[in-house]
Amino acid sequence: MSDAGPRGLYVHIPFCSGKCAYCDFTSFPGRAGDIPRYLAALEAEAALRGPLPAVETLYIGGGTPSELGAAQIAELFARLPQGRYAEVTFEANPESLDRDRLAALRRAGVTRLSLGFQSLDDTVLRRAGRRHSAEAARTAFRLARAGGDWSLSLDLICGLPGQDFSRDLAAALALAPDHLSVYGLDLHEGTPLARSGFVPDEDRGREMLELAIDRIAAAGLEHYEISNFAKPGHESRHNLNYWGAGEYVGLGCAAASHLDGERSRNTADLGEYLRQVESGVRPLAESERLSGKAKLGERALLGLRRLAGLRLDPVLEGEFRAEWLDLERRGLVTRHGGRARLTREGLFLANEAFSSFVAPFEVNS
Ligand SMILES: C[S@@+](CC[C@H](N)C(=O)[O-])C[C@H]1O[C@@H](n2cnc3c(N)ncnc32)[C@H](O)[C@@H]1O
Ligand code: SF4
Repeated sequence: MSDAGPRGLYVHIPFCSGKCAYCDFTSFPGRAGDIPRYLAALEAEAALRGPLPAVETLYIGGGTPSELGAAQIAELFARLPQGRYAEVTFEANPESLDRDRLAALRRAGVTRLSLGFQSLDDTVLRRAGRRHSAEAARTAFRLARAGGDWSLSLDLICGLPGQDFSRDLAAALALAPDHLSVYGLDLHEGTPLARSGFVPDEDRGREMLELAIDRIAAAGLEHYEISNFAKPGHESRHNLNYWGAGEYVGLGCAAASHLDGERSRNTADLGEYLRQVESGVRPLAESERLSGKAKLGERALLGLRRLAGLRLDPVLEGEFRAEWLDLERRGLVTRHGGRARLTREGLFLANEAFSSFVAPFEVNS
């Protein structure tokens, strides 16, 4: 038995108004001129794949999907596979979310808006290379709240240079979002932030994340995944399926798919993506078929991300007998009632715990 939910469709929109100093996502500032071609390519890519399996959730992520204008948003939804989606998420940035776009999103049937705030401090935002102010973020949130009966989610990063995270968190919670994602800063090699010599303070980072967990819970949002908190009923169904190792179809540059036992990823080169799709070729960069212990391990490490944990079965317990015992001994995981969960300590050392489930499966001691 698995924890997977209904299948999802992910669509990647790789356009941005600029490049943030910490960002390693596939995104291309200054390429807005390619948007019309890209929207046509998304439709063509879906056709190239042949009949798609039934999907129940749709997630438009980026990059910055709100770089599309209102008419382009309408065109995007018209070109995507039509379905009766139970949840439609759209990621938006404060610098581009306006009334016209919100109206287009409402007409398109969007049910969740995920707003990238990262911080609510102008100095921190500027140093991180963001192109909006804290006030613009608040305005975007208020417009979004007034603009539709949707679930509103905010993203914050914890550990940005010069950040008082406690203040950022209080400012974000004051807006009463339905869902909050808090990501510890990942310093990616080659990004301007990494090259600047900035060194994250790991002890402080952990202290801040501990504080976040307690303060967000006190605000009535349940901690349901390592980085995610939601009011009851506002969890991301799309992502719950992902953490349940469920199937999803990805469309667009760099989009990943998991279907019929195969994990694949499209090329992250925008020009190549467009050229291949336009010449009738599927824009695949890689694909692999996990099997045996590797496949089980993937289910374990994805499932442990959820606070509700992972449903255990005899195969999963038996194949990783030594690993489960080792993780329990180290205080990172507990097993109870047929489920395995990360402990509070395990939440902060999750990557260490997850490494037990990745080949060559060496038990740490
Ligand atoms: C797909 S990204 C981009 C969303 C949107 N374009 C934005 O910038 O607000 C989704 C989220 O990942 C997080 N993120 C991106 N880069 C990160 C990094 N280096 N470390 C931690 N979190 C990061 C941010 O919170 C961001 O909102
Ligand atoms: S963080 Fe978001 S807005 Fe900034 S470059 Fe990355 S995808 Fe674009």
